[in-house]
Amino acid sequence: MNLILMGCPGAGKGTQSAKLKETLNLKHISTGDVLRAQMAAGTELGKQVAALINQGNLVPDGLMISMLQNIISTTDQGVILDGFPRTVAQAQALDDMMKRLGRQISAVVMIDLPQEEVVKRLSSRRLCKKCGKPAATATQAACECGGELYVRGDDAPQSVKHRLEVYRQQTLPVKEYYQHSGKYVEINGNQTPDQVFEDICNVLKKVK
Ligand code: AP5
Ligand code: MG
Repeated sequence: MNLILMGCPGAGKGTQSAKLKETLNLKHISTGDVLRAQMAAGTELGKQVAALINQGNLVPDGLMISMLQNIISTTDQGVILDGFPRTVAQAQALDDMMKRLGRQISAVVMIDLPQEEVVKRLSSRRLCKKCGKPAATATQAACECGGELYVRGDDAPQSVKHRLEVYRQQTLPVKEYYQHSGKYVEINGNQTPDQVFEDICNVLKKVK
């Protein structure tokens, strides 16, 4: 099974991917996580993309497409794509890639969330430097795994506002790209993480 998990910033793509990869034995590919790891390691690529990401802009298509191509062509496992494709050009490139590899997208799951909820979630998000998971409460000093907590550079209010605008302009057309493919489903993201997970699993039961 190969899934695309779509949704605006803060919709819960990372949270649901962590649950789904265990249940379905899939490889979780978050292009945002890959880019942040490059930034943390101080690589040339990391330096190149840091300003774009922190301001809430997209990294150029060419770079993202070759990054995904490298990851996907070296894994035989089914995948969850979290944060890719984010433009119609990326969606078209993904179609070509999958065709060449003899694979198929099984479902495109859109997690819907109202904008007010996005702002609320992202203004209080703190992530673990060690395991990458969001902190479960607003008051805890460190992650359950012992790792230090940090705030993402692009979770600053101005960047969140811009990310939402970029999402509307560049990523919503991707929804239209998949909407009539017979693989597209929408899930209400404004529920507890467990309820969202249950809804996704119910939808996936009907997918081969
Ligand atoms: P990326 O890392 O993909 O960020 P994003 O799409 O903005 O989404 P987030 O990771 O912020 O949110 P999420 O949906 O994963 O939610 P989460 O589960 O964490 O991309 C970052 C940047 O990288 C982009 O802006 C761009 O610059 C670049 N980039 C990446 N991919 C690219 C591409 N393909 N092309 C070009 N550029 C690219 O949840 C959010 C918070 O809410 C957490 O605190 C969580 O605990 C909480 N939460 C989750 N679910 C619930 C729930 N049901 N109820 C209550 N709280 C919840
Ligand atoms: Mg994420």
